[in-house]
Amino acid sequence: MKVSAFAVAVLASCDSVVAAGVSPRDQDGTDRAKLPMPPSPPSYPSPWMNPKGVGWEEAYEKAKAFVSQLTLMEKVNLTTGTGWESDQCVGNTGSVPRLGFNGFCTQDSPVGVRLTDFNTVFPAGVTTAATWDRALMYARGLAMGQEHHDKGSTVQLGPVCGPIGRAPEGGRNWEGFAPDPVLSGVGVAESIKGIQDAGVIACVKHFIGYEQEHFRSAGQDDVVASYSSNIDDQTMHEMYLWPFADAVRAGVGSVMCSYNQINNSYGCQNSKVLNGLLKNELGFQGFVMSDWTGQLTGVASAAAGLDMTMPGDTAFDSGESFWGANLTLAVVNGTVPEWRIDDMAMRIMAAYFKVGRTMENQVPVNFDSWSFATEGPLHFAADEGHQQINWHVDVRGDHAKVARQVAAEGSVLLKNNGILPLRKVKQVAVIGSDAGPNLDGPNGCSDRGCDNGTLGMAWGSGTANFAYLVTPDAALQARAIQEGSAYQSIFDDYTTDDSNTQQGNGLTAIPDLVSQAETVSIVFVNADSGEGYITVGGNTGDRNNLTLWHSGDDLIKNVSALCDKTIVVIHSVGPVVVEDWYNNPNVSAIVWAGIPGDQSGNAIADVLYGDVNPSGKSPFSWASDRSQLPDVLYKPNNGKLAPQIDFTEGVFIDYRALDKADITPTFEFGFGLSYTTFEYSNIRVKKNKASAYKPTSGKTIHAPTFGSFSNSLSHYLFPSTWKNVKYYIYPYFTSSDPAKIAGMSDLQPASKFLPPNVNNGKSQPLLPAGGGPGGNPLLYEELYTVTASVMNTGSVAGAEVAQLYISLGGPKDPKVQLRGFDKLFLKPGETGELSVSLTRRDLSNWDVVTQDWFISECPKKVYVGSSSRRLHLSAEL
Ligand SMILES: *[C@@H]1O[C@H](CO)[C@@H](O)[C@H](O)[C@H]1NC(C)=O
Ligand SMILES: *[C@@H]1O[C@H](CO)[C@@H](O)[C@H](O)[C@H]1NC(C)=O
Ligand SMILES: *[C@@H]1O[C@H](CO)[C@@H](O)[C@H](O)[C@H]1NC(C)=O
Ligand SMILES: *[C@@H]1O[C@H](CO)[C@@H](O)[C@H](O)[C@H]1NC(C)=O
Ligand SMILES: *[C@@H]1O[C@H](CO)[C@@H](O)[C@H](O)[C@H]1NC(C)=O
Ligand SMILES: *[C@@H]1O[C@H](CO)[C@@H](O)[C@H](O)[C@H]1NC(C)=O
Ligand SMILES: *[C@@H]1O[C@H](CO)[C@@H](O)[C@H](O)[C@H]1NC(C)=O
Ligand SMILES: *[C@@H]1O[C@H](CO)[C@@H](O)[C@H](O)[C@H]1NC(C)=O
Repeated sequence: MKVSAFAVAVLASCDSVVAAGVSPRDQDGTDRAKLPMPPSPPSYPSPWMNPKGVGWEEAYEKAKAFVSQLTLMEKVNLTTGTGWESDQCVGNTGSVPRLGFNGFCTQDSPVGVRLTDFNTVFPAGVTTAATWDRALMYARGLAMGQEHHDKGSTVQLGPVCGPIGRAPEGGRNWEGFAPDPVLSGVGVAESIKGIQDAGVIACVKHFIGYEQEHFRSAGQDDVVASYSSNIDDQTMHEMYLWPFADAVRAGVGSVMCSYNQINNSYGCQNSKVLNGLLKNELGFQGFVMSDWTGQLTGVASAAAGLDMTMPGDTAFDSGESFWGANLTLAVVNGTVPEWRIDDMAMRIMAAYFKVGRTMENQVPVNFDSWSFATEGPLHFAADEGHQQINWHVDVRGDHAKVARQVAAEGSVLLKNNGILPLRKVKQVAVIGSDAGPNLDGPNGCSDRGCDNGTLGMAWGSGTANFAYLVTPDAALQARAIQEGSAYQSIFDDYTTDDSNTQQGNGLTAIPDLVSQAETVSIVFVNADSGEGYITVGGNTGDRNNLTLWHSGDDLIKNVSALCDKTIVVIHSVGPVVVEDWYNNPNVSAIVWAGIPGDQSGNAIADVLYGDVNPSGKSPFSWASDRSQLPDVLYKPNNGKLAPQIDFTEGVFIDYRALDKADITPTFEFGFGLSYTTFEYSNIRVKKNKASAYKPTSGKTIHAPTFGSFSNSLSHYLFPSTWKNVKYYIYPYFTSSDPAKIAGMSDLQPASKFLPPNVNNGKSQPLLPAGGGPGGNPLLYEELYTVTASVMNTGSVAGAEVAQLYISLGGPKDPKVQLRGFDKLFLKPGETGELSVSLTRRDLSNWDVVTQDWFISECPKKVYVGSSSRRLHLSAEL
């Protein structure tokens, strides 16, 4: 990809540092000449909490009462992880033993509780999005939150709206919801409400511009820095920041900053995105947590708005931290102002109290991420503290119900010539490795880092261990036997050769079976991806292509050549190429079953047999031609320096891009069939009484402080009787010589290496677009209500996701963009009503000059339909 002039310009200032071979950690407190001029514009000081922050008032009061009692080192303890594998969770903060506070257990993942036993593996975000069902999104969040709560986790590291899914090959897209800001925003907001109602802090991630796995960290192909996502301000607001605004409005307690750079400033020390966009403009009152070792500086990251470092050490098990003792020192020596450490502690504890936690209702961690053994070392890295570490608590409750419902309602019927739902089938032939088990067991590959057997979950840290995985084969066989059918399944994808030629293996089990009379063949195929620390079949997180794995295309072609009742079921992380066979008349039906979690087989049986009438809608486009969609950057494009990824397509990803290029997708965003039919009619637009938009004005309070601290370094030494755990990160000093603590001899006053205004605790002006959770409260005023009628015109009950799209009318606006939807459950003959309220934000564009939203003069039109291209009704606004 070409590096734009803008990228070159901002890079120039960065090059010198990287080229000089200075490691990132030296950037904290060293010679100013060696420091990069932050190419993202500076945004300082870091906004402090607002005691009147909507929804945070009570939490603020409770946090204030608690934090006011803390010593400096106790505050530092809250901000700093104890080190990789030092305690039982993937991330653990220090504790406050004096006040009986256990500290935080921060635990993966967005689909359940990772690295434990007796837990549910919920369907992935992409499948949840495909339900377009707010109540189910909430119910899944609540159930996941309960499992975290009962295992003793305080923070669930999810949900995800970054990546949003800029490139369809992006390795972690499935962890998030959809390449659409509105559907993603609803997904994260409902998940957050559910998780937090269970008493667990949600952590929405990754902030921001984290759209691919290749080069997310230094090292790959000898590249010395993470890639930079270069995003213009309008695209940032109208696409990538949008769902995070919804997360903040939903009251999210924490946000994880990302590994990548944004405009050549690292995500966890980019003051523009953390201070400017997140805390100031969106009014975020919770805490910012680093991705694991995503913190690269001490003082600079504190100034830029980071509040908690995870897992706490500079590199896994280095025994050193940018914070811990360094943060204690930085406060004592005046480099980090007292109000900043107090604000970190306030934000962390306010999130804790906001979700209903107290000192009294703490749940001790009852599992260990690093071992299944009942007994073992409490401090795994150090191999110290042998005792009971796993209590094997079964936290599943009745969550199989909601997991199954999400998986079934998140399945999308893409084609059906009437063969579905199945009835009175004489023989069912189930074909493909994707229907059966992994021969090494459902957890046979660590973090699910392989594609063996049915694809119940993709790979990486965003997963969880299966307590069981119901394979499609198991569920369909049970169902077929119950129906009186014959049933045979073949998991070897390659027993298709009808010849004993050079390429052929002479094995003919599949053709022999599927060519038998009165047989319905169900072919299971898949495509996998995941997090970049695992490579599967040459795919380093991101997919290398959009074709099916295990020769899925050949398998489908082989079967459909011989069987005119072929049903294809696709388990995949995103779109796959279906061009070669989807139109074949023998391919009688196609179901996209997404990434379904542990109820996989039950859910697909529900759909194929019609116990659940499919109502899922594709949360992404299936492009016949992906040339107009943004790509993953697979090869370095900037020598050994940070690869430059220019988001030159602006907001034109997924359906917006295809609409703009006039490319007809095979299956469009929002598309999905049902066993019944629906008719749309009677669109009405009601204009609501609304006030005029007023940019926010006024000022914050002065930065508050809570408590006091001593200026004498000797007060912070390790207690004399202290026994250190190896690799563990503490807030204490080993020496009262600051150079020893800081690990450098040329200690510098803040004024020497920090930008101006960093330590200014005086009241600050509010931003015009700010002022409330998610931005200016007037952005969320409802200007119009659009309604339309939807009738079930078929003979069975079913649900229709009626969708509302808008055209903002400007020459640079997308043809249409999703703005709302309703899932209507309708009996045959019943009529339901879609009702979508359009907020001011929904009608606005971002103006880079005034730094505010505005409604353009261009004529605006709304459309209602059953997908992004089946827009049955329209009306002018
Ligand atoms: C990145 O640079 C673009 C182009 O100058 C600018 O519009 C945008 O606001 C910058 N964003 C950040 C976070 O620095
Ligand atoms: C900081 O946390 C550690 C680990 O939980 C704990 O051992 C230590 O006592 C805490 N220090 C203070 C000052 O509370
Ligand atoms: C303080 O941070 C520096 C890196 O800036 C590191 O080398 C040093 O070990 C840290 N000190 C402690 C006590 O972790
Ligand atoms: C204060 O402490 C921080 C953290 O170790 C260090 O980076 C900075 O150079 C120190 N400054 C002074 C003036 O001691
Ligand atoms: C499982 O996957 C691994 C890694 O992709 C592969 O090497 C292995 O052969 C597979 N095992 C089976 C039994 O399919
Ligand atoms: C696409 O990637 C998959 C998984 O690595 C591989 O099986 C398949 O052969 C690739 N397809 C093409 C056309 O290269
Ligand atoms: C069946 O699969 C084999 C490879 O296993 C392939 O060579 C052959 O072309 C396929 N047949 C059809 C009709 O697609
Ligand atoms: C469809 O299947 C029948 C066998 O039932 C076969 O004869 C025919 O060639 C197939 N058609 C296509 C287009 O593959």
